[in-house]
Amino acid sequence: MNQTAKTYKDIILNTLGTFGGSNSRQLAGAVGADRNVPPPSATELPYGGTYIPEVLLPSLQEIAAAFDHFKFDEGFLADFADTLRTFSGRPTAFTPLPRLSAEFGGAQIFLKNEGLNHTGAHKITHCIGQILLAQRLGKQRIIAETGAGQHGYATAAVCARFGLDCTVYMGKKDYERQRPNVYWMELLGTKVVAVKEGSQTLNDAVIAAFKDWVANPDSYYLLGSAVGPHPYPAMNTFFQKVVGEEIRQQCIETTGRLPDYCVACVGGGSNAMGMFFDFLDEEQVQLVGVEAGGHGTQPGEHAAKLRDGKRGIFEGYHSYFLQDGDGNIAATHSVSAGLDYCGVSPILAYLADEGRVKFETANDEAALSAVKKLAQTEGIIPALESAHAFAYAFELAAGLTKDKIVVVNASGRGEKDLFITMRHFQEENLKAYAQHLLQHQK
Ligand SMILES: Cc1ncc(COP(=O)(O)O)c(C=O)c1O
Repeated sequence: MNQTAKTYKDIILNTLGTFGGSNSRQLAGAVGADRNVPPPSATELPYGGTYIPEVLLPSLQEIAAAFDHFKFDEGFLADFADTLRTFSGRPTAFTPLPRLSAEFGGAQIFLKNEGLNHTGAHKITHCIGQILLAQRLGKQRIIAETGAGQHGYATAAVCARFGLDCTVYMGKKDYERQRPNVYWMELLGTKVVAVKEGSQTLNDAVIAAFKDWVANPDSYYLLGSAVGPHPYPAMNTFFQKVVGEEIRQQCIETTGRLPDYCVACVGGGSNAMGMFFDFLDEEQVQLVGVEAGGHGTQPGEHAAKLRDGKRGIFEGYHSYFLQDGDGNIAATHSVSAGLDYCGVSPILAYLADEGRVKFETANDEAALSAVKKLAQTEGIIPALESAHAFAYAFELAAGLTKDKIVVVNASGRGEKDLFITMRHFQEENLKAYAQHLLQHQK
């Protein structure tokens, strides 16, 4: 553990609150171009910040103060750990993939099965952390945004369990392509609003959720990734870091040592930060984030912000965003709704600049093939988001020697993608099923 690496954890948990200062800007007016980005001062790191309408400043300060207090509170931490165990089912399994490893003939591949969490993905972990915080703040109403629907589903579940009113915003395109999760949210008593503005994806859902919060600042905004204004990036990283802590223990128990590579997909960055955080101080563990390569490299065809994005300020924080030449937010595409987002965690932006986390892309086709490969060789169906990490990891492992260990974060399970993967793998059967349902309805 060298001195430089040792500072990463400290910087993220202790200095992140001042990333980018505490400037307050108009939400819609601070998009994009470098001219909007204040130069970092000597004491501030260049990413993050709280670039929000004045009216929301007290709400964010209240949440930041509560987080600063409760992250050291033994009662709160015990409650968090207990709810993760009894409600979500932690610890999740750490699974060797012997048949795939043998087939690729390279490194030993392992999977951290976050899809075994209650509601099917890692998202429930930061939802449990935040709902316990909202409860201690005496909040009655929760607002959230969702892309793939996993964060919305998890938020709906914790709201039902803790008896809080819940509204979830979802881009109309995502509402249609992740329909099973819409149904689960509604069954749990949540109001789901399909957002018809803009590209009708996660970005538009975030803006709609912020608008609701401006109108209702007493509500608690339960933000779903390591993005947004401070304290959300640090707070969701703090709640999610249990993933890497479990991997450390499980990998040592299983193999006698730490992994050589940890690979996670990157939408906003919460599952990646959850996996990476505990290993940041050990530079021998290589950390790889995999972004959505979509179906091309032209603007609008992918969601690779750390490959093609530019620094800017949007949705309350300073990071890398996909932008057009004028600094407006560019359209994105991915077969997976959860990676189809224009921005990325300010923490990952910082770690990318530092070279501590490397970024790669996997395209739609590679992700779909990885779903089938993992399903048919190891009996595990990953979410399309997670399949991006597998697609890259399979290539990586094939080129490594057998003594290397590659761990992949299976951030979610694939049931939510039923209608998308079925359209790709069995279109005729899907059409027949749809027809059957329609006829049955008559
Ligand atoms: C299963 C799954 N994995 C990954 C993501 C991407 O989010 P993040 O980058 O915050 O982990 C999502 C988002 O909805 C998801 O549902």
